[in-house]
Amino acid sequence: MSEKATLEIHGKKYEFPLIVGTENEVAIDISNLRSTTDSVITLDPGYKNTGSCESAITFLDGEKGILRYRGYSIEELAEKADFLEVAFLLIFGELPTKVQLDKFHTDIKAQSVVDEDIRKIVDAFPKSAHPMGVLASLTSALTAFNPSSVNVDSEEDMYKAICKILGKFPVLVAWTFRKKHGLPLDYGDKNLGYVENILKMMFKQPNEDYKINPIILNALDKLLILHADHEQNCSTSTVRIAGSSHVGLFASLSTGISALWGPLHGGANQAVLEMLEAINLDGGDTDKYMAKAKDREDPFRLMGFGHRVYKNFDPRAKIIKKAADEVLNDLGVADKILEIAKALEKEALKDPYFVERKLYPNVDFYSGIIYRAMGIPTDMFTVMFALGRLPGWIAQWREMRLNKEPIGRPRQIYIGETLRPFKTVDKR
Ligand code: CMC
Repeated sequence: MSEKATLEIHGKKYEFPLIVGTENEVAIDISNLRSTTDSVITLDPGYKNTGSCESAITFLDGEKGILRYRGYSIEELAEKADFLEVAFLLIFGELPTKVQLDKFHTDIKAQSVVDEDIRKIVDAFPKSAHPMGVLASLTSALTAFNPSSVNVDSEEDMYKAICKILGKFPVLVAWTFRKKHGLPLDYGDKNLGYVENILKMMFKQPNEDYKINPIILNALDKLLILHADHEQNCSTSTVRIAGSSHVGLFASLSTGISALWGPLHGGANQAVLEMLEAINLDGGDTDKYMAKAKDREDPFRLMGFGHRVYKNFDPRAKIIKKAADEVLNDLGVADKILEIAKALEKEALKDPYFVERKLYPNVDFYSGIIYRAMGIPTDMFTVMFALGRLPGWIAQWREMRLNKEPIGRPRQIYIGETLRPFKTVDKR
C-alpha cells in the first residue's frame, strides 16, 4: 500500500507510511515522527492504540472474536493438538513432524533436572508465600545456576535454552505447589507425556502410585493450549521489553510472571473464584453484585468480565465454558460456584451496562472452576496460567531477539515542576 497518513502540527504537514499486516490491519509507522518534527511524540496511556512490534506469532481480532496461533484457529488447536505440539508451533512457527516432536520432548526431558541447591531456595520460602512470587523468584534463580547467557545468533544455543526452561519450569511449578502442601519434592517421570508428567509431579502422594485421570489430563492440556499465547498482552510485552535490554531468557521470563500475577491480568482467575465464593457466602444474591459492578462509586468489578482487545465473546471463554461443564459432569461434581457463575453471565449478557461497554466473559471467568474441580487450590490458578503462557513468552522473546529489535524505551510528556532553586533543609 503506497498510501500515507498526513499529520499537521503547528501548520506544517508531515507524511508517514502505512504498514499493512497479512490480516489487513493498518498501522501508521511513526518511527520517524520525533526526528522529522520538532521532537513531537505520541501519548497513548495503556498503549490502547500503539503497536510495539510486527509479529508473526498470534493473530487476534477482538471484534470478531478470532484467535489464531501461527494461522491455526484456537478452536481447532484445542480440539486436535496437544500442548507440546502447540508449544513447538508457537516457538518455531510450524507444527512439528512426529520426528521433530519426539526429539523436542526427548530434549526437554534431558533438561528437566533442577539443581538440588534450588531446593534450598524453595525451603527458605514461608508456606504462606504466594505461589506466583515464589515461581517468579525461582525462575529468576535459574539464571544463577545457568550463568552463561544464550547466544541468540546460534540456533543450537537458543534451542537448548528453550528446552531447558520447558523442562525445568514444570518442576518449579510442582515444587511451589508441593512445598505449600507439605509434600516431598518430586522430579516426575521421564516415561510420561509432558502434561501427564506435570500432573504426576504436582499430585503424586508419597505413599501411593499416581493414576492419571484422562478427564483431568484432557482438561489441563486444553487449558494450557488456550492460555499459550495472546500477542502483546501485559506480561508478554513485559518479557519482550525486559529481553530487549539483552538480559537472558530466564530473567526475561521472571518479569513476565510478575506482570501476569496482577488481578487485571492473569491474577483474574484467582480473583474470579474468590469473588464467586464471596457471593456464595453472602447468600448467592447475584443481583446485588451486578448492581455493585455497575455502580461507578463502588470499586467492585465483575472479575472475569471485559477485555482490552475482545469486544465480542472471548473465543477461549466459549471453549472453557464447555470444558467446565464436561469436567464437572464427568467428575460428578455439583458446584454451587458454577451456578453462580452462570447466573452472573446470563444477567450480564442482557444488562445494558455490560452490553454497551461490550463486556463479555473472558478466559478467566471459567478456568478457575475447572482448576477447582481438578483439585488445584485457588492461589495456584495464576501459576497454571503461567505454565500455559510459557511457550508464548518464549516465542515472543525469540522473535524479538531474532528480529534484532531495539531496546524498548518509551518517551513521556513531563508535567512536573520546571527548574527551581534548591533550598537547604533549614530554609524549607
Ligand atoms: N466490571 C464492571 N465494569 C467494567 C469491567 C468489569 N469487569 N470491566 C470494564 N468495566 C467498565 C469500566 O468501568 C469502564 O466503564 P466507563 O466507560 O463507565 O468508565 C468500561 O467498562 C471500560 O473499561 P476499561 O477499564 O477502560 O477497559 P480496559 O480495556 O482498560 O480494561 C480489563 C480491560 C480486562 C482490565 C477490565 O475489563 C477489567 O478490569 N476486567 C476485570 C479483570 C479481568 O477479568 N481481567 C482478565 C483479563 S483476560 C485474561 C488476561 O488477558 O490476563
